[in-house]
Amino acid sequence: MNFLSDTTAPAHPALLASLTAANSGYAASYGNDAITTELKARLSEVFATDLELVLTTSGTASNALALSVLCPPHGMILCHDEAHIHRDERGAPEFFSGGAKLLPLAGEHAKIDPGELERALNQWPQDFVHAPPPCALSISNLNESGCAYSPTELTALTGRAKSKALNIHFDGARFANALVSSGESAASMSWQSGADILCLGATKNGALGAEAILLFGNARRHLPELQARQKRSGHMGPKARYIAAQMLAWLHDDLWLDLARAANTSAAEIANTLRKAGAEIVHPVDGNEVFVRLDVEVARQLRSAGAGFYQWPDGSARFVASWSTTDNDLKALEDALGG
Ligand SMILES: Cc1ncc(COP(=O)(O)O)c(C=O)c1O
Repeated sequence: MNFLSDTTAPAHPALLASLTAANSGYAASYGNDAITTELKARLSEVFATDLELVLTTSGTASNALALSVLCPPHGMILCHDEAHIHRDERGAPEFFSGGAKLLPLAGEHAKIDPGELERALNQWPQDFVHAPPPCALSISNLNESGCAYSPTELTALTGRAKSKALNIHFDGARFANALVSSGESAASMSWQSGADILCLGATKNGALGAEAILLFGNARRHLPELQARQKRSGHMGPKARYIAAQMLAWLHDDLWLDLARAANTSAAEIANTLRKAGAEIVHPVDGNEVFVRLDVEVARQLRSAGAGFYQWPDGSARFVASWSTTDNDLKALEDALGG
């Protein structure tokens, strides 16, 4: 009954097998190998467009590197107040960008309120030498409250930001969960909704450690700078073939979507069980995360029955399902609640 985080889940056997398959003979290093080339072609198919690709092993590295090419040191990155880049990356985006300022915006369920974005764009001028100009907008989908933006919601935000020449970063640490929840295509949830760069995470959804920074459209011109920054920051893995192999196996036969669907289905069941036990679900459960207000005694009872979950700073409790959540886990939760 481990509902702490999807990063506590094991890696999927198919991805482990892909490592063994890739482990034959010599291959060019630093992403110049045949498997990485194949992955780039596969991702272009999945996203239905030409793209550039940089591989890392953590979402924080991906986000910070991506933002560092989208925002200069004297600029400002707009994001939600709950954004992982704002609250949980120990200042990595500021550090990698050389000092860019993050401007947190409000909005229910960790979704940026379009009115708040508008206010920020109007309040912070592009051309006043004393103020950091808004240069990038960062949107997490799935977001930090487990909610998914639709393409319409995304386009409303990105369209407005683009009209002021901002660059657009999507944090897709749980992109697959948002995708299966929406039923949309990968293209429609990324570049067609305005993303210049998508940080596509596999680590929370079956990989050992595989994250891809995808550059779309004109943003492909940032590749040389991104690679330079990747190297300089020590995030250019010499044996990139093993990261690429995981991602290829993840995409094969839509395994990535199947795993995300399994996690989302388990999360919906967790929410139902908790709701039936009288707990208040705090945010819509669009993906694999459930935020719930738990009675102190119920929380104690669950912990003593062996349930792992985190207490969130706002007083709620977070339960995360993963591809490897089992029926037994779900049944154990029900039993622990006396269901
Ligand atoms: C929304 C979001 N973005 C990015 C990350 C990246 O995390 P990590 O650096 O742990 O891979 C996380 C991890 O929890 C996350 O929830």
